[in-house]
Amino acid sequence: MSIAIRQIGPCFVGEVSGIDLTKPATPEDVAAIEAGMDRYAVLVFHEQKLTDDEQMTFSRNFGALEQAVGSNVTKLEDRRLDLNMADVSNLDKQHQPLARDNRQRLFNIGNMLWHSDSSFRAVPAKYSLLAARGPAPKGADTEFADMRAAYDALDQETKDEIEDYVCEHSLMYSRGSLGFLDYTEEEKEMFKPVRQRLVRTHPVTGRKSLYLSSHAGTILGMPVPEARILLRDLTEHATQPRFVYVHKWRADDLVMWDNRQTLHRGRRFDDTQPRDVRRTTVAGDAPTVAQSG
Ligand SMILES: [Fe+2]
Repeated sequence: MSIAIRQIGPCFVGEVSGIDLTKPATPEDVAAIEAGMDRYAVLVFHEQKLTDDEQMTFSRNFGALEQAVGSNVTKLEDRRLDLNMADVSNLDKQHQPLARDNRQRLFNIGNMLWHSDSSFRAVPAKYSLLAARGPAPKGADTEFADMRAAYDALDQETKDEIEDYVCEHSLMYSRGSLGFLDYTEEEKEMFKPVRQRLVRTHPVTGRKSLYLSSHAGTILGMPVPEARILLRDLTEHATQPRFVYVHKWRADDLVMWDNRQTLHRGRRFDDTQPRDVRRTTVAGDAPTVAQSG
């Protein structure tokens, strides 16, 4: 059996067949998937009944894993999963849906804003691999937007204007926009803003993309309201239906995306229903811009 990829989104997103992710991937498989990521930016794999260990093993084919620290308000003793797994579920340690006023739940609602994973880290993420353990509740879709196509569709004047802009990203900006404003001193330190270029160039294909994220709250050298309205306008442009793929989860799907080339968001659903989704994150290899100076 060999890997085949069929495009299922408007300008990106491939559906992969011919691979069982519970088995060790061959170098040919890994190369085919990397090439698929470079081309489609999002890959969907169906019917992959993975354990956490199998998901971590598969993910490590693409680089070192990010640890799920500095990215949430969940206390270590309340964690449900290994530190190499980001818990994107709505479940507590007893695998029960979090209470409505649970702080961890309220913080995680920020994942329903358009974002790129770990853009709040100085070295932001390369790939994310999100796997559903079992079926998904109705409406709990994940949407993806193609930031290369969105960049290409900008007029030349805008491209020239934003080419060298540097934004500051922090979880406090994305959560703050939803009214989540109370942080401990330790959290403020952990969520300190980092700098990211607004326009990125893909290291393999050379394609440019918009590096947007709800975590972006300022642009260096620009008054804050002016920066925020520009970021809002760009995000609105970049998430028009012509650039968006809506993933409706099936039981045991794994979806893998390139955070350097796409935005994504979760959608609202009845979260009194359990949703068990677990993410491994492949770290990037360098900052997009120097962090000071
Ligand atoms: Fe995310």
